[in-house]
Amino acid sequence: MIILSKLESVSTGFPIIDNVLDGGLGRGNVVLLCGNPGSGKTIFGATFIYNGIKNGENGLYINFNEVKSEFYLYMKRLGMDFKALEEKGSFKYINPLSITDLRDLTPFTDLLAKEITAFKPRRIVIDSITIILDLMDKSKIRAFISNFLMRLAKKLGITLLLIYDVPFNEPRIGHGIEEFIVDAVFYLKRIWFRDKYNYYLEIRKVRGKEIKVNKLFYRITSNGIVFSKPLSLNNNHHLSERGLTSGIDSLDKILNGGFKEGSLVGLIGPVASGKTLFALNLAVKNAMKNKKILLISLRESRDTILYKLKKIGGANSLMNIEIKTINPFTLPLSTVQCKLDEYYQREKPDILIIDGLETYLIAYGMEEFYSYVYQRVNYLKSLSKLVIVTMTLSSINQTVGIEQLGDYLIQLDIIEKDGELKRRLRIIKSLDPNKEAEKQFYLKIIKNGLVIESSS
Ligand SMILES: Nc1ncnc2c1ncn2[C@@H]1O[C@H](COP(=O)(O)OP(=O)(O)OP(=O)(O)O)[C@@H](O)[C@H]1O
Ligand SMILES: [Mg+2]
Repeated sequence: MIILSKLESVSTGFPIIDNVLDGGLGRGNVVLLCGNPGSGKTIFGATFIYNGIKNGENGLYINFNEVKSEFYLYMKRLGMDFKALEEKGSFKYINPLSITDLRDLTPFTDLLAKEITAFKPRRIVIDSITIILDLMDKSKIRAFISNFLMRLAKKLGITLLLIYDVPFNEPRIGHGIEEFIVDAVFYLKRIWFRDKYNYYLEIRKVRGKEIKVNKLFYRITSNGIVFSKPLSLNNNHHLSERGLTSGIDSLDKILNGGFKEGSLVGLIGPVASGKTLFALNLAVKNAMKNKKILLISLRESRDTILYKLKKIGGANSLMNIEIKTINPFTLPLSTVQCKLDEYYQREKPDILIIDGLETYLIAYGMEEFYSYVYQRVNYLKSLSKLVIVTMTLSSINQTVGIEQLGDYLIQLDIIEKDGELKRRLRIIKSLDPNKEAEKQFYLKIIKNGLVIESSS
């Protein structure tokens, strides 16, 4: 018998979940992994086993639904080579006949016991447990999970993942008893929202652990399940006295040395008022000072952005600028969240620019937009020295959150002055308010960027 250390943590196979759970699950835990159709339950289970084997823990996958060749092929496409692991003797796959009657249960439990004795797995997945539990009433379910599966897991130090199918729109998990008995409950949700499926994991319960985050967005890619980083972790950020150039020298003076490091700048104004131009000009001027820029456009194509950037700074300035485009109208909210996170984390830029945030509002609605803006601001600030967000708004009264949360708010618009159309810039909010900053400024587009032409 294995002596269990109370503090020993075993990885779930997903670093972000381990992080949320302060190291992962407890050894000998029985986990119920619930999920909607196509939510990635099997991929999750496979990853749990695969990464366990990488850490020296033999894995057994029992799958009632898929034959071995199908599973191997499918997982290989996601980067997991189970055939190789089987050949090395660290993995075993069983595809038993479906259980249609409780009389079939004893042969199954005998098979399980035999495999455990012979193969000595440290991780087991049963995919899925639904058919078995559906044959039982509540007291039998309790006995089967508690007296058989949990005792087995704890006695032998096996971490056991039980997959449970939850139909779409079903409010309850299983028979209403399963969740109480097991050590941990994860729920992979695939939810229809605004004409698309959104994916998120709910961490519903983990015995003996503080759950710091309950909801994690994810997307399924050719590398498997990719979770977005939870917001409440590592959100410290510092505001500094140092400034970064706004891209316009005379504006930097008015701002007391540019935008302060650690701040967020909201750039608002109606269509064609010059928000993107201002942001691109800022990008180019900072890139020329060797700052690394990540520009995420939620609206324009990469080619359009490149064309505009080249006009401002020539090809040289592009070296330090990484351009990414995401179209909220074609992607579910959860994917957009995950992609945004992947980009910030991969690039770790000095300056992060998100252009066209209004598309997020239009695509997902006010509630999601508010939640995004409010939750993300400090997180974004913690990732870079400066965050610039542009948003098309016809009136300042419409600003939906950016005005409270931004450290600077710059409003651009097009007005008629002396019989000419002018681009006007006003500093609505600043970290260094002063008399000069209260003026209205008129912008001029010159060969390599933007300048302030006059003020009034
Ligand atoms: N290479 C891939 N790239 C992107 N998505 C993929 C890829 N392979 C599979 N998927 C997605 O993964 C999901 C299926 O994953 P999985 O089989 O783990 O789900 P499941 O919850 O086990 O499904 P079921 O309810 O059928 O058992 C599908 O939504 C599918 O679109
Ligand atoms: Mg499956």
